[in-house]
Amino acid sequence: MYRRLTLAKDLLAEDGVIVVSIDDNEIFHLGLLMQQVFGERSRIATCIWQKRYSRENREAIGDAHEYLLVYARDPERFKAQRGRIPLGEKQRALYKNPDNDPKGAWQSVSISAQGYRPNQMYEIVAPNGNRHVPPEGRCWSLIEDEFNKLRKDGRIYFGAKGDGVPRRKYYLSEADGLVPWTWWPHEEVGHTDEARKEIQDILGTQTAFDTPKPVRLIERILYIATRPGDLVLDFFAGSGTTAHAVAKLNHEATQKSLPPRRYILVSSTEATVDRPIKNVCRDVCAERVRRIVQGYKNKKGKDIAGLGGSFAYLRCSRIPLGRLHTTIRHDQVWVALQQLHAGIVSPYTPGDLHALEVSDVDLYYAARVSPPVIAALEKRVRRKKSAVVYTWQPGLMRQRLACDHIVFEKIPDVLAARFGGGR
Ligand SMILES: C[S@@+](CC[C@H](N)C(=O)[O-])C[C@H]1O[C@@H](n2cnc3c(N)ncnc32)[C@H](O)[C@@H]1O
Repeated sequence: MYRRLTLAKDLLAEDGVIVVSIDDNEIFHLGLLMQQVFGERSRIATCIWQKRYSRENREAIGDAHEYLLVYARDPERFKAQRGRIPLGEKQRALYKNPDNDPKGAWQSVSISAQGYRPNQMYEIVAPNGNRHVPPEGRCWSLIEDEFNKLRKDGRIYFGAKGDGVPRRKYYLSEADGLVPWTWWPHEEVGHTDEARKEIQDILGTQTAFDTPKPVRLIERILYIATRPGDLVLDFFAGSGTTAHAVAKLNHEATQKSLPPRRYILVSSTEATVDRPIKNVCRDVCAERVRRIVQGYKNKKGKDIAGLGGSFAYLRCSRIPLGRLHTTIRHDQVWVALQQLHAGIVSPYTPGDLHALEVSDVDLYYAARVSPPVIAALEKRVRRKKSAVVYTWQPGLMRQRLACDHIVFEKIPDVLAARFGGGR
């Protein structure tokens, strides 16, 4: 996982967030790894997802939750930008409209606060003439001007009879969602059973994939960590829940004319020696994405409309090194060598010998070993300035041009691995 997390860090946007879900067995190992790769400063929170709704009696202590480790590249930016959680049915039901307020359903909140602030200690006269002052040890949470403005705008409630302690009205139409916290109960984000049923509904079988996550769980992550137009990467895609969740959010976003989020999902095939033809990526993940995008007939035979969007299914395969030899581009090698050696890049002109004159040691890239290249090098190094010559055949070069002040270097392995073997 160390290498994968290091790669993930490189891929993370400047304001990017990484969320990793893990169970009780591995939490401590993963926590230390995350700390090593991303650093303690990047740690935002460890959330708990309640994955079970019924008791697990097989273990000494039943396993009911998993963890979500949240890290952000730039914690301050994350705090300023992070999204809120849209209100659920339960929270929406708290908003009522007993006084037929034209601004719609509302709920009220006390306007008294702890402490003493002289400019928040005024007297308020209720519509029926009752006089209200802050309770003992408290003050109003608003200064008088602000209070009067809200009152004028009909945003203060004195109770059904107009005689009660004033409270501030908050409207459902203006509610911008809940600030996330670390407790994610199954009623809000689903459980493993729900996730299995989701798979069954789409693919017709519960056994297609063993450990899917509920769509609502990933949706919550997306609400918190992304905005419309963002790019979401899930490099352990499994059954493709992330694509499903993104497609759901995009479906809503399109109706509001917001740019869609995009996704890249990566998965292994999960093929083993015993099951060499297994291909979870193609048969479960891509198939699920295809169905939720285009629409499908569910397990009960009902037509489910597609969420829209599109995707491409791409296969990565290892390219034999031999094939890369023929496709090597010398400009890539030369640019990389200049960067490694001197931290600069000069324009590339095709040729067999490339030179960069640096103050202490000149840099050369001999794209091939040939008599003209040897002659050109000889002419240049006669000046007795130290030089390092990168070549695919350092041994051969050394034989042809033995010289104390020239170092012959093989093309670094890292470049050979990146661009192929050369020649
Ligand atoms: C726990 S599952 C993820 C489940 C997923 N969140 C879902 O809702 O279906 C982890 C997945 O990562 C895949 N995987 C494991 N090692 C991998 C690797 N090195 N590269 C890509 N995928 C890998 C596994 O095949 C497995 O499908």
